[in-house]
Amino acid sequence: MLSLLAWPLNILLFFLSFSPAAQAASPSDWRGRSIYQVIIDRYALANGSDLNACDPSKQTWCGGTWNTLRENLDYIQDAGFTAVWISPVQQNWLGQRTPYGDPYHGYWIQDSTQLNLKFGTADDLKALSAEIHKRNMYLMVDVVVNDVMALSTTPDYSIYMFKDASFYHPYCPVDFSNTTSEQLCWLGDLNVTLPDLDTKNPDVISGYNSWIKELVSTYSIDGLRIDAAKHVDPDFWPSFCGTNGAAGVFCMGEVFGGLDVEDAAEWQGPLDSVLNYPMYTALTQAFQIPGPLNISAVTDTLAQSKSLYKDTTVLGNFLENQDLPRWAAGSVDVQSLFNAMTFNFMSDGIPIVYYGQEQYFRGAGDPLNREPLWPSNYEKTPAYQFIQQLNQFRNYLISVTANTSTPWTTAATQVLTTSQYGIAIMKGDVISILTNIGSPAQNNTHIAVATPYERNTALTNVLTCEQWVVGSQGFVEVEYTEGGHAVILYPSTSLVSNKSPVCSGKVITSQSTTVSTGSSNAASSVLKGNPRTALWTLDLLMIIGFTIAGGQWWS
Ligand SMILES: *[C@@H]1O[C@H](CO)[C@@H](O)[C@H](O)[C@H]1NC(C)=O
Ligand SMILES: *[C@@H]1O[C@H](CO)[C@@H](O)[C@H](O)[C@H]1NC(C)=O
Ligand SMILES: *[C@@H]1O[C@H](CO)[C@@H](O)[C@H](O)[C@H]1NC(C)=O
Ligand SMILES: *[C@@H]1O[C@H](CO)[C@@H](O)[C@H](O)[C@H]1NC(C)=O
Ligand SMILES: *[C@@H]1O[C@H](CO)[C@@H](O)[C@H](O)[C@H]1NC(C)=O
Ligand SMILES: *[C@@H]1O[C@H](CO)[C@@H](O)[C@H](O)[C@H]1NC(C)=O
Repeated sequence: MLSLLAWPLNILLFFLSFSPAAQAASPSDWRGRSIYQVIIDRYALANGSDLNACDPSKQTWCGGTWNTLRENLDYIQDAGFTAVWISPVQQNWLGQRTPYGDPYHGYWIQDSTQLNLKFGTADDLKALSAEIHKRNMYLMVDVVVNDVMALSTTPDYSIYMFKDASFYHPYCPVDFSNTTSEQLCWLGDLNVTLPDLDTKNPDVISGYNSWIKELVSTYSIDGLRIDAAKHVDPDFWPSFCGTNGAAGVFCMGEVFGGLDVEDAAEWQGPLDSVLNYPMYTALTQAFQIPGPLNISAVTDTLAQSKSLYKDTTVLGNFLENQDLPRWAAGSVDVQSLFNAMTFNFMSDGIPIVYYGQEQYFRGAGDPLNREPLWPSNYEKTPAYQFIQQLNQFRNYLISVTANTSTPWTTAATQVLTTSQYGIAIMKGDVISILTNIGSPAQNNTHIAVATPYERNTALTNVLTCEQWVVGSQGFVEVEYTEGGHAVILYPSTSLVSNKSPVCSGKVITSQSTTVSTGSSNAASSVLKGNPRTALWTLDLLMIIGFTIAGGQWWS
């Protein structure tokens, strides 16, 4: 322990702020995590494999396993993630290949009491779990309980965990406009049917509850992602999920949908959390280029979320997953990704990044959005480095506020300013200024944001480590002379006093409190709290004191 004392306070705080892994992680334990989502078959290959053999359009196995993930966790940890979500571990369909290929993705369940041996043995999964925990990360496992998989409407039920037709609903195709039908009928189609478990049947309930309890404890799982959650009777979830249910750990459900917050929110309660499909949809509408560039979709969704969800701070925030088009399939401009991603990390909820997003993968949908990761050579691309910065700053915020009366994670996200070109939000002490104008420089475009900070307060853009000074009446202004970059402002004194790893030794402090609008090579600056001095140079964008009242965006 003595050597710990020599560690910088911020590093110490970082480790102390996470509870020991696998101790029945609750929503409050998960709130401060960030998640990297992996399809096991596509994340990494064993040494010596053919790196060019994987073609996602063939819909078959490419060779990733629990071991190959375990051997390649540095890439995830170095990006700053504190949790890994892996595709289902349950045994999958062992029968003939289907018109939609083989179950390489893990969602075609056969006997849930067995592991999927394609991905390794019980010991391999335990070793993966142990290695994840050794790195102070959490393990989230995707589980499918709504259905099993078959090739007809009259399958041989003896191959499944529940071995009799009486445990299943009778066949009917799902009518997605009818909630009852969504819960009672079978997903899939006639090529690949998904026989639907009767989750009101007491034997199914008790069987599943014992099963999940055992799975979670055997593999020290910290949280569950629940597939097709809205296709299950809502009363099933409280006894299965959460710290009071059989699983004993946090559960985040897939409630696939569009902008409708009410539809998603009704499932938080039965489940601890849901994947935030309404905000995902809103972000695509607000930020994707080309697109409607409709910022109102985000502001409306935020407002509705506040009133309809029980707890917005544990929702799963994402821009991609295995069912959706990659962000880059819908948006040609990388700044649209960076701005939307900043929103996900800096507003309420748990950020989730689907593997390959940091490599700008562009698969337009299933199966092309399940690309192998290895052809990327795991390059630390600008997107990877951007995510690293977001994780580092968010992890820091969480650790320094963890034991205070105002933890950053539970501070409510406020909207400071909106226009058709962007939105400025504030959560805790952090102001994020986001725009959908894209990469091209906009010499005459600026945005004035009313902040609650006093005039002359020094704020650091943690993405560039440049410091700016709040102008009169609390305004700051961003100029997009180098394009529509995201901005994250945080009080410089907090960075210094907490010995932040973010911008450590790099904060460039302006001596001048007010810089006139539009001036591009204004004040000289010194590095505060650092013996070295440096000249401030105009980099990607600048924020300057704004001296008129009631500023307009791009006025
Ligand atoms: C924060 O509180 C937790 C328990 O609530 C404790 O385990 C941890 O040591 C505390 N961390 C710091 C840095 O005080
Ligand atoms: C694979 O190769 C890397 C270095 O090339 C090595 O560190 C690692 O131990 C190897 N893994 C196995 C399972 O042989
Ligand atoms: C909704 O679906 C259920 C189950 O299939 C069915 O019994 C019911 O008639 C449907 N309701 C309507 C309004 O179609
Ligand atoms: C079954 O799959 C074939 C080949 O992909 C496709 O043409 C057909 O439409 C599918 N049938 C159904 C009922 O979905
Ligand atoms: C923008 O989104 C809002 C909220 O979802 C919606 O009411 C409005 O019709 C949308 N506007 C456009 C131009 O799509
Ligand atoms: C913006 O200003 C820069 C530097 O003065 C110039 O090179 C660039 O062409 C300008 N861009 C536009 C769109 O006016």
